[in-house]
Amino acid sequence: MPQGVVAGSIPLFAGHPSPDLLPIDDLQRIILSAWDAPNVARFLNYGDEQGNRRLIEFLVERLNRAEDLGVSRENLMIIGGSTWGVGMVTQHLAAPGDAVLVDAPSYRDALHIFRDHRLKIRAAPIDDEGIIVADLERSLRKLAAAGAAPRFYYVVPNFQNPSGITMSRERRLAVIELSRQYNFAIVEDDVYSDLRFEGAAPPSFYDLAGGENVLRLGTFSKTLAPGLRIGWLIAAADRIAGFVESGMLRMGGGANPFTAAVVTDYCRSGAWEAHVQWLRGQYERRRDIALAALEASMPAGVTWTRPRGGYFIWLRLPSSAHVDALEERARGQGVYFASGKGFYVDPADGTRQLRLSFSFVPLPDLRSGIEVLGELIARMAA
Ligand SMILES: Cc1ncc(COP(=O)(O)O)c(C=O)c1O
Repeated sequence: MPQGVVAGSIPLFAGHPSPDLLPIDDLQRIILSAWDAPNVARFLNYGDEQGNRRLIEFLVERLNRAEDLGVSRENLMIIGGSTWGVGMVTQHLAAPGDAVLVDAPSYRDALHIFRDHRLKIRAAPIDDEGIIVADLERSLRKLAAAGAAPRFYYVVPNFQNPSGITMSRERRLAVIELSRQYNFAIVEDDVYSDLRFEGAAPPSFYDLAGGENVLRLGTFSKTLAPGLRIGWLIAAADRIAGFVESGMLRMGGGANPFTAAVVTDYCRSGAWEAHVQWLRGQYERRRDIALAALEASMPAGVTWTRPRGGYFIWLRLPSSAHVDALEERARGQGVYFASGKGFYVDPADGTRQLRLSFSFVPLPDLRSGIEVLGELIARMAA
């Protein structure tokens, strides 16, 4: 069972890929051939601090081709997944007691990292287009008046975890404007953008800001396999140089050299592009099944988002249904979801909300888990 999953349950909380969506046979083939290659000893040793050169070149070429991003090798480094990147960036950009800005709701585990670093977390609410700029501005004015300028704004710009929404181009531009006015960096945790089912992607913050004061994270966790622990960071060349010079990379070499070598071979064989293409269809089907089950099962008063990509749907409960009570009853029936409370700085803001993930559970469980929740909520409303 993957992290946190109770055997025999329906884990609608799990933001993992379903085991049948991992390209196990292809990876086995590539791992065995990497193992047999004459240079295997090189990848079993410490690596370049910036990460596998050939993987950096592959990613730079892909970003420039797909997004016309205009990045070069100096703008990209390999990291051990986006989580590593959030931790590293936080450590470099902020000191304990500094303020960080986030969306409300925001990705729960990033909030944990900011708490670990003893940051003051300030949140502004989102709607269907992303952060509400007037609220962000109010928060910035308050912080400035208190002499506590935020160091950075952390955002999941596409198919946000937990809400599934994508921030519009206009909002991105407004946030960039504010970041210049109030002098804070933007950390865009872009882990889901390759899993778009429909519509066109707005340009990234990195693109819209011309690379200035934006740090953009990517990962192979959602489009290949999270256990490989490989991702990348895009930023201005001097920032990348600063990270590469850090004690952690000097002491430990680059991120996961052996798995980076495997991922490089996988990507350069063309298999990754084909797999991502296939995954989009698989996740779209899962999203559609989840939305149809919600439509069929939820009583009046429940609302939810309709994500155009990614892993998550965000539910709002009627006032009659408290998320704690629902969680307890659902658990009694073997259904687990992510309570809204964990995604807010103040858990009290999330007592009528919850996150469902359609990425992991088998399809029949996706339907039946949502049915169970619908029945429980209807009973609580009666
Ligand atoms: C927004 C966000 N960032 C980061 C991660 C973790 O990424 P990684 O496996 O690359 O550390 C997740 C996974 O759930 C996520 O949703």
